[in-house]
Amino acid sequence: MSHPTIAVLVGSLRRESFNRQLATALARLAPPEYSFKQLEIGDLPLYNQDDDGNQAASVKRLKSEIQAADGVLFVTPEYNRSVSGVLKNAIDHASRPYGQSVFAGKPAGVIGVSVGAIGTAMAQQHLRNILAYLDMPTLGQPEAFIHAKDSLFDDSGNIGTDSREFLQTWMDSYLAWVEQHAAA
Ligand SMILES: Cc1cc2nc3c(=O)[nH]c(=O)nc-3n(C[C@H](O)[C@H](O)[C@H](O)COP(=O)(O)O)c2cc1C
Repeated sequence: MSHPTIAVLVGSLRRESFNRQLATALARLAPPEYSFKQLEIGDLPLYNQDDDGNQAASVKRLKSEIQAADGVLFVTPEYNRSVSGVLKNAIDHASRPYGQSVFAGKPAGVIGVSVGAIGTAMAQQHLRNILAYLDMPTLGQPEAFIHAKDSLFDDSGNIGTDSREFLQTWMDSYLAWVEQHAAA
């Protein structure tokens, strides 16, 4: 892989989303040959199986972006101890019609940040369940349950010094995972 692309799905549409900030800051920890693309999921219709034969343009776009990627990074908030509805909606769209999922075999990374003490641990666990069904090889360790605290980002939006070493290790591990599963 000379110029690997990572599709990034952020499960929050909130303007000041911590998870979007995390996704942006994480991408800066990767070597320059990697490109990270945060995919738009806010314009997807609600999934309706009746539309499987005639998927909306936004759904086709999402699927082709994932198909073109070498890996998929999920950055999830925790909503009521699970993933957000918008993230699940996007996953459902890109997994259908049956037999035409674009996820199978794509190396996945799971991470998330929350204001709660357990830092999206339950949401990530639910997400891992979904990704197992979608046949995505998913990085197991290190796990990263991030608590949104003031020092998480510095003034430039980079990962702050308290968390940088840990998240650098996380990113290095994920990219090694992507390399390992390239063109699998
Ligand atoms: C509908 C809803 C449910 C939430 N449930 C949880 C939860 O189960 N656990 C948790 O730690 N935080 C929960 N939160 C708080 C989120 O962690 C917080 O809003 C966080 O900022 C969301 O991520 P974002 O900043 O990327 O939008 C919830 C927030 C909303 C809006």
